[in-house]
Parts: sequence; C-alpha cells; structure tokens
Amino acid sequence: MSTVTTPSPAWLPDAALAPLGTGLVHLPDDGPLTDTLRGEVEHATAVHGGRLTDRPETADLLLLTRRTAGAVAARVEAVRYALDADRRPGELVTARPRPGRWVTARRSGVTVVVGDDPAALLHGAFALLRRPLLDGDVVGEAPAHPVRMLDHWDNIGAHPVMGRVERGYAGDSLFFDDDGVRADLSRVERYARLLASTGINAVAINNVNVHAREARLLTDDLPDVARVAEVLRRWGIRTHLSVGFAAPVTLGGLPTADPLDPDVAAWWAATTARVYDAVPDFGGYLVKADSEGQPGPFGYGRDHADGANVLARALAPHGGTVHWRAFVYDHRQDWRDRSTDRARAAHDHFAPLDGRFEPNVVLQVKHGPMDFQVREPVSPVIAAMPRTALAVELQVTQEYTGQQRHVCYLGPAWSQVLRFAFDDAGDSVATRATGGLAAVSNAGTSPFWTGHPLAQANLYAFGRLACEPSVDPDRLLEEWVHLTFPKAAPDVRASVHRLMACSWQVYESYTAPLGVGFMVRPGHHYGPDVDGYEYTPWGTYHFADRDGIGVDRTMATGTGYTGQYPEPWRSRYESLDACPDELLLFFHHVPYGHRLSSGTTVVQHVYDTHFAGVEAVEQMVGEWAALRGRLEEDVHAEVTERLAEQLRSAREWRDQLCTYFWRHSGIPDEHGRRIHP
Ligand code: GCU
Repeated sequence: MSTVTTPSPAWLPDAALAPLGTGLVHLPDDGPLTDTLRGEVEHATAVHGGRLTDRPETADLLLLTRRTAGAVAARVEAVRYALDADRRPGELVTARPRPGRWVTARRSGVTVVVGDDPAALLHGAFALLRRPLLDGDVVGEAPAHPVRMLDHWDNIGAHPVMGRVERGYAGDSLFFDDDGVRADLSRVERYARLLASTGINAVAINNVNVHAREARLLTDDLPDVARVAEVLRRWGIRTHLSVGFAAPVTLGGLPTADPLDPDVAAWWAATTARVYDAVPDFGGYLVKADSEGQPGPFGYGRDHADGANVLARALAPHGGTVHWRAFVYDHRQDWRDRSTDRARAAHDHFAPLDGRFEPNVVLQVKHGPMDFQVREPVSPVIAAMPRTALAVELQVTQEYTGQQRHVCYLGPAWSQVLRFAFDDAGDSVATRATGGLAAVSNAGTSPFWTGHPLAQANLYAFGRLACEPSVDPDRLLEEWVHLTFPKAAPDVRASVHRLMACSWQVYESYTAPLGVGFMVRPGHHYGPDVDGYEYTPWGTYHFADRDGIGVDRTMATGTGYTGQYPEPWRSRYESLDACPDELLLFFHHVPYGHRLSSGTTVVQHVYDTHFAGVEAVEQMVGEWAALRGRLEEDVHAEVTERLAEQLRSAREWRDQLCTYFWRHSGIPDEHGRRIHP
C-alpha cells in the first residue's frame, strides 16, 4: 500500500500549470470566483516564474470576462482578435454561442481567455492547461448543459460492510465523519478544484438512500451544509442534498407525506425556505423514491409526478431543481414469474407521465434499463419523454466494473451511450439529455482520490463529457495522461495510454458475456458468481439451462421490452439476426450453439473472450512492470499491486465462466484449451 499522506495532485500537478504561470498574467475582474482563479494564477506563477500584472499591454496571458474585455480591447490586439472571433465566419472552432461560454485565442504570442461570466472564465483558464494554443488559434467552448452533476453516495454512519460510502472504493467520505460534516474541509476544497477544472458545477453530498441520521442534514445540520456549500461555491459548484420522501413524517412530525396534502406542501415550502436562508445558492434535492425500500408517492396512492412536483414547487421560488430518479422497479420479484421484467420498469412507470412534471423537475435516468452493468442497451426512457427535462445518470464509481481494483477506463462506454442515436436522423442521447449529465462519484479520502490511481481518469472523463459529450474519449484519455504525468517521457505516456484505452473492452471480455449482466457475487458485487442472482428477488436473471441462455425480451415471445424502443431499434433488437452481438443475451434466449454475426457460436465466444481477456490483462501487467522507475514510485507501486489482483480476479472469472458454460452445454472448446471439468 502507498505511503502518501497528502492527496495526490491528480491531473493538476504543478508541472501541468505552466500555461497559467510562465508569463505576465493580467486578471482585472474581482469577486469570489475571480479570487479563486487569482489564487490559482498566483500559485502557478510562483512555481513557473511568471507574475500578475496590472498592465494589460505587457501581459502574455489575459484572463477576462466580457465585462472587463471591452476596456482592454483597445489596448491589446489579441483581445480584439478574441472578441471579434464570432464575426469572422469559419474561424472559430466549436463556435456555438451558449451560456457559460468562453473564447480562447492566441495572437502575436499573447494568449487571451474571455469568459461570459466568472465561472466561464475559471473553466476557460483550466481549459488552457489541456489545450495550449498556437499562434493564430482561436477556440470557442461552452458546456453543452447547464448542469454537470456528481452524486456522492456518502453517509454519516458507516455501514458494517460498505463503510461510510455506499459502493465506495476510495477510502472514507470526503464530506462526513462519525459526527456529521467534517470539521476540516481542506480536502473538499482540493476536490472542488479538481472538479471545477473539468467543468463539474453541481454536487449532491449525501447518499440517495437517506438514512435517519443523514435525513437531518436538511434541518439540524444546515449550518454544516452551509460550510460545505461555502467551499464548493468558491469553485463555481452548487450544493445539492438527497432527501427522503417521508421527511414530512420523519423530520416534521406530520401524520403523512402524501404529496397532495396541503400540510405536506407547506412543510416542504417552509423547510426549503430555511435551506435557502442557510445556503442562498442551494442547487436542490435529489430523490430516490419507491425504490429498493425508500419511501415514495406510491405509498399514498399517488404517482411520481405528484411526488416530484410537491418538492419542485417548494424549490421553484428559490431557483432550485429536483433531480428525481427514474430507478424504480420491484426489488421483491418472484424469480418464478417470467412475465415481470425489471428492464421494463422505468419506462412503464415514467413514460406515461411525460408532460406532467413541473419545469424545475429533472428526471434522472440511469443510462441503461438495469443497473450500471458493463454492457446494457441505452434506456428507452430517454427517447420516450420529450416534454420532460432528462438527466442521464452514469456510474463513475466502479461498482460493476472492477471496483477500482481493475483498470477500467469508462470514457469509451459513456461516449457510446451519449452518441447513441435513437433514430436515423441522429437524435442522440446527449441531445435528449436536456437536464444534463449526473454521475455517482468514485472519490474519497484515498491518497489517490479514487483508490486506483488510474481510476482518476474516469472522474476526469465524466466532467469533460458532461461539458462536451461529443469529444473523443481517446482524446480525453490523452489529455488526462498528459496532465497527470507531465514529466514522464513520451513513450511512458504512450504506454499508459495504450494500457488504459481498451481496458473497458478487456474488462467486458473476461466478465459477463454478450450483455447478459449480473453474474457477480450478490451483495458486494465483486468477482464472478454466475448463478449468484439467479433465484433472488432482484429481477436480474439469465435463465441458463442445459440448452441455452439469455432473456427473451422480444414482443413476439418474451417480455415485450423491445417494444419500448422507437424504430428502428425496436425491430433491430426484436430480430435475432439484427440484434447486435454484444447485446444478444440481453434481448434473446438462444442455444449455446447459436451462431453470432461474428461467425462464432455463443459458447465459443465465451471461451474465446475469456481466454483473450486474461491474456490482455497479462499484457497490461507486463507493460506496467516495464514502467518501473519511469513514473512516480508511489503511483507505480499502487497500480502494480492492483494489477496483480486484477489478474487473479480475471483468471477466476475466466475459469468459472468457462467451466459453467462447458458444464451446461457439454460443448468443448474448439481450440482445446484447458477448461476445468
Ligand atoms: C445499485 C447499487 C445500490 C444503489 C442503487 C441506486 O443498485 O447497488 O447500492 O443504492 O444502485 O442507484 O440507488
């Protein structure tokens, strides 16, 4: 284990700050966010030899808002060049004017960032680190969505198995200790800096499963929530709280939490007003209702529009938002009942409610219909609710993707989701997500923030994709590697990049095949257990028997889930021939000998991918070992240790999966490799 005691600088080591710190920097605005940026520049110049200057005409770098740029333009040609960029057709790269926009330009050796507002300027200044400009360059950038949110599943009380952070694999909570909000929030400040540098601007600080102690954050602990908000605010991040739907009963002492009861509405309004007294820029509530034991409107015979709207009306006068989760399904299902399909649940519950939500409700939809598996189809809810603001929810914490013991760079997986087009006109998930992106954070008090040092790349990539969903995930990886290892030799960086680039596909290859999902150990979800969830109430089955495997979700003979998709996907998923191989077992129950469009059979695919997956991990181990002495020692040692576990675990997956398929099918491996009988 590592001996680091202060958290790693992650992708903001001093060496990466050179573009902000080598020359004379002019930063004339004032206000809290500009003070944050000034602190950043002061630090960068102290390290790299530059300094702040009041004289714009002498500056090498000018950091301006629209408010201050006008006055400087007459004196500095590069500023005029940046401000005029919109008027020169064809010159501005990524030119769409949007709120939160900044323009960066470089002219005659002078670099300029002009932000629409102080937050945009902060984001633009950080963007310089990942994209230093050449002379004549001019770039316009703006976040695609106004809200880029991270959800922490952090508790105050620690769970005996999971610890303080539900599905957390990176140490303790950044926000809480046994007593409540931590007295020392210095790590939160560093964390906020990292998040701001990627463009994240909203954080929900507590778990969506709201237990009794955490519920009181909304009332008794408000002064402490305000302390967190004060830190996050300095970095342009708004604080949100997860709240329990039954709070009017549990905290307010009312006899009911019925959303249509006037006393309940009044309680939410008064409680919310007190929150805004303490935190004037409070972002709003995040709610998991009628899900996995959490209370919700169904308990009062109401629907989820009724439930979300009572909170929305309380927040509206203050400019707040309800993020209402669509993760609603029956977690007490009878495995004998083949007609109930968990995948259908969110669409069944929510699609009929389209158009009924208040304007400040954002329906937060998990990217797939099940639960953050390594491979799922895109949730059909995202196509079904054009009159509702939707946020797509991703899972940065690697619950089902190796728990930050395995290298699994998720940028390509998320990018595939965001680019997925529901129709041939190219209407993508990213354009449908008018409520922005949200994700479950993977960070904690671990020295590397994310347990596995390379899992930082997922946090970085999420923020960047939330701002720019169309950006190539490989480019994001390159940015991250460059920023994180600025002193490493080019071949070392290339090696790190290579090792991580395909790591999601590698992880998929040695775990659950062809979209089937959930072959994990129940409870903690680490490691293989093919039948672990097969006879449980959770609705996560694969129905393997001696003849075949997979879930028939067709309209013709199955649960009818395929019918929730618009054309052409409805027909593609319905058809055994047209269904993409990687999702075959999600949509169809097939014999082991069924031939995939790749030409191989299902069972042979399982053998081949599992052997290849382990070989790929062996290569990763070798490639990483060769970097010894050429990267920071603590990072190298930590990753080495985790790769050893990844290899052990990948072999276990391979052996259990191959044996399971061999025993069930009786079909031998075409290549005669050793499969345990
Ligand atoms: C998963 C996860 C739970 C979590 C839930 C959610 O099921 O295992 O720990 O509470 O997702 O998204 O609410």
